[in-house]
Amino acid sequence: MTSEDMRRAADILDGADRLAVLTGAGISAESGVPTFRGQDGLWKQFRAEDLATPEAFARDPKLVWEWYDWRRGKIAPVEPNPGHRTLAKWEGTFPSFTLITQNVDGLHAAAGSKTIIELHGNIWKMRCTAEAAVFENREVPLKRIPPLCPSCGALLRPHVVWFGESLDMDVLALAFATSSSCDAMLVVGTSAYVQPAASLPLRAADAGARVIEINPDPTPLTSSADVSLRGPSGEILPLIDGLLRRS
Ligand code: OAD
Repeated sequence: MTSEDMRRAADILDGADRLAVLTGAGISAESGVPTFRGQDGLWKQFRAEDLATPEAFARDPKLVWEWYDWRRGKIAPVEPNPGHRTLAKWEGTFPSFTLITQNVDGLHAAAGSKTIIELHGNIWKMRCTAEAAVFENREVPLKRIPPLCPSCGALLRPHVVWFGESLDMDVLALAFATSSSCDAMLVVGTSAYVQPAASLPLRAADAGARVIEINPDPTPLTSSADVSLRGPSGEILPLIDGLLRRS
């Protein structure tokens, strides 16, 4: 990454009235939240099919909840980092700004972002398996595993999207519409392996948007990006903010 690349990224952002941002686990890495596919990634230590599928939950809801309870315990004390904070600031800086995240950790909201399209749900919410009602729940550790619905007593499940499940149709439609209508899309800290999230920047590019990627490593998206900034987003995002004329 050169200062010329940084300048090009800032110029694209200064020229964009409609900015869309897609984030992944990498934006929370500097806060201490493990990613999924890195060296110490969760999917290197755990088998997704045992813990993050509807079949796993049907087989052993207690085991699945123990794992989510452990993850909630790891995320609970964590603070948003300057990357999250810069994006929260930009919500009030750009004429149109939409944040789309694959993360379930709630750190964008903790940093002050108000409108967040959460593609994969939120680890601080639970959903009733009988009535589909969604509850916020921040108890760490959970007193009862698996937790039960306070209104009907049925089993609750984490309000997250598991492997083999479809994303919420309304959430996905909004994400696609945003991607098709933005002037620029900033893609931060995602390996770009998981669909349909990974297709959003390509959709944006097809519709004429400029694409900027921030990631320490190359991804399948890198070759489609107009600018690729290699490095940690907690450092790069504040640096770009400092270069913006509109900031
Ligand atoms: P991954 O763990 O697949 O990828 C994390 C990306 O962040 C990698 O490309 C890293 O290079 C990059 N990264 C690491 N440190 C970074 C830093 N400091 N700054 C910027 N980038 C950094 O995470 P996702 O792409 O988010 O799905 O994974 C997508 C989905 O797969 C997740 O939402 C989750 C998982 O299975 C569900 O739970 C449904």
